[in-house]
Amino acid sequence: MNGFQRLAVVGATGAVGRELLQIIHARRLPFRDLILLASSRSAGRHLTVAGRDYGVEEATATRLKGIDLAFFSAGAAVSRALAPAIVQAGGVVIDNSSAFRMRPDVPLVIPEINGADLARHEGIIANPNCSAIILLMAVAPIHRAFPIQRIVVSTYQAASGAGQRAMDELTTQTRAHLAGERYAPSVFPHPIAFNLFSHDSAVGDDGYNVEERKIIEETRKILHDPEIAVAPTCIRVPIPRAHSESINLEFRDPVTPNAIREVLRSAEGVTVVDDVKSGHFPMPIDATGRDEVLVGRIRADVSRSDGRGIAMFVCGDQLRKGAALNAVQIAERLLHRAV
Ligand SMILES: NC(=O)c1ccc[n+]([C@@H]2O[C@H](COP(=O)([O-])OP(=O)(O)OC[C@H]3O[C@@H](n4cnc5c(N)ncnc54)[C@H](OP(=O)(O)O)[C@@H]3O)[C@@H](O)[C@H]2O)c1
Repeated sequence: MNGFQRLAVVGATGAVGRELLQIIHARRLPFRDLILLASSRSAGRHLTVAGRDYGVEEATATRLKGIDLAFFSAGAAVSRALAPAIVQAGGVVIDNSSAFRMRPDVPLVIPEINGADLARHEGIIANPNCSAIILLMAVAPIHRAFPIQRIVVSTYQAASGAGQRAMDELTTQTRAHLAGERYAPSVFPHPIAFNLFSHDSAVGDDGYNVEERKIIEETRKILHDPEIAVAPTCIRVPIPRAHSESINLEFRDPVTPNAIREVLRSAEGVTVVDDVKSGHFPMPIDATGRDEVLVGRIRADVSRSDGRGIAMFVCGDQLRKGAALNAVQIAERLLHRAV
């Protein structure tokens, strides 16, 4: 296949959708027609992508007829409502929402890690949760070389992880705060400027919120390791873009920080930023707009005397590798397989 005939982005006006449009053009994903879809609120708007003007239309089942590849980034309800019709008509859906991720017939793919799972798709391919992607870009290559038994991860998640309006709320609240004005949160449940809070997803009976559950379940599915133990704590922080994560790994056998650095230096899509002398380690400001996940602060877990623990810190742009870039990489793999 030389390219896609009719490519659609559902949720084109959103934070992930805009990034998708930019990356589709930057990486020259081949297509004949590109169709931008969103809610009825956006119908008639125009977006400029790589100097070209595109009209936005309402996403309806009728408008999606004849699409051969659709990227969905409009939330799980829209994916559930509209994706099956595309598949029934012979098209493929790459879905950024959580709608289908844990379905056994749906591959959940990070191309650098489990790209081979694409071989068994039945029309829907799921893009993993953004925090899971950033975690696993660092953890999966290590797990391949040195089996990991347990992961403890604390996230520092950017406002844009909750969408365009959430990112805008961070800006307006910050301005209001600095001007000494009063403000009330509208997108987030709590003030996001000059504050942080436990991830704004519902907490279940087991005490874990939905985001934490996704990290546990998706990690096991992507690594094909139902036994691996994962203990996440997800926190929202007042950062516009790029998630950070503090990670502690427990191994089957002893391992050294240098051996981990070696593995990560040759891992695709990972950059080691671990300059102790200058104090330069991963920061969201450096990860923003970049494709690679940055990994640093790689050290032995001092709380373990048996050498089976490693601690590290990662940052990754969750709108790129955590969502849009990963989705476009999946599409590229589909094209290569079809050649
Ligand atoms: N933000 C992230 O970092 C991130 C990372 C990974 C995955 N995701 C997932 O990606 C999806 C999109 O997230 P986002 O952050 O881009 O959200 P967003 O900025 O709020 O954008 C949502 C998009 O969905 C569209 N939409 C909403 N309701 C719709 C409807 N009924 N029919 C058609 N389109 C509709 C919106 O169109 P209008 O502009 O017309 O309202 C907009 O284009 C979500 O499932 C999210 O969980 C997000």
